[in-house]
Amino acid sequence: MTVKPSAARANGKVNLHLGVGEARSDGYHELSTVFMAVDRQEIVALIPEPGADVTCGVVAGMCTSFHVSEPDEDLATPNNLAWRAVNAICAGADVEPVRIEVDKTIPVAGGMAGGSADAAAAIKAAVGYMAQHGVDVPADRVQAVAAELGADVPFALMGGIALGTERGDALVPMMGRGEYWFAFLNPGVGLSTGKVFEHLDDMRFNSASVVPKMDTTLLSRALLSGDPVQVGAAMHNDLEAAALSLQPRLHTLIRDAEKAGAIRAMVSGSGPTVAALCPDRETALAVVEELTRDGSAEGFVACGPATGATLL
Ligand code: C5P
Repeated sequence: MTVKPSAARANGKVNLHLGVGEARSDGYHELSTVFMAVDRQEIVALIPEPGADVTCGVVAGMCTSFHVSEPDEDLATPNNLAWRAVNAICAGADVEPVRIEVDKTIPVAGGMAGGSADAAAAIKAAVGYMAQHGVDVPADRVQAVAAELGADVPFALMGGIALGTERGDALVPMMGRGEYWFAFLNPGVGLSTGKVFEHLDDMRFNSASVVPKMDTTLLSRALLSGDPVQVGAAMHNDLEAAALSLQPRLHTLIRDAEKAGAIRAMVSGSGPTVAALCPDRETALAVVEELTRDGSAEGFVACGPATGATLL
């Protein structure tokens, strides 16, 4: 049997609402979050390498083409979410080893779930690869692997707009009208997701006024209006205070994005990327142009809602 490469793509996301509740015993926090997928994509291809030397699983190696800043650390390790995703989906099956190739346009550790998009695309590509070998991976197995890999992976598979509760991975699709144009600005400073959550816990411990905002009613109404001004007014991120406290220069980026024409700029997820919602594509392009001119941030325009992970 000739086995062909199998490839899939998955989009990044922005949390239009991110309410962070209690810390749980499993190290995660209860969330009440509204995800929107945006059309900034990762492509993951599995290239068959018949006879390659593989110590564990089916993955013989991995390489990434970066269309965003390259991180200092090596991403091509068995710990990588895409690597783990392929091994999990193909576990126990008699299939040819593969090399993983990733085409990356979402900032690494940026708060846009780039790693989770890699995982979701890798899951889809691996399901396609298994199908070539005559193996049908059941949908509940796909969901279980996604949730095991990370709290944002199930949404990266699903796309669109969704309310996420529990760890953010219990998803219900949400209705929304219209399209939303964002300027995404990445100042290239590191912010670890776990550290930002921890810092929020510390801030809450020290001040009774830092309370969770779990109610998403205002945002769901705004999304039905299709009006970016209403959506901008309803955007909220409980993690923003913690991200700003750890990286105070994000204040300037937010202020300057709004000065340059954004309706509302906010830290995306745990940051450090700033998501600046704009009235239209032209304004989003102008905001990116203005804020990246001096080289202090990297930026791009993306539009939501976008699709979930798709086999190519
Ligand atoms: O799921 P993921 O591995 O992307 O999460 C990274 C870290 O972010 C977790 O280890 C945890 O510290 C924090 N987190 C959290 N609550 C969530 C999601 C993430 O505390 N719901």
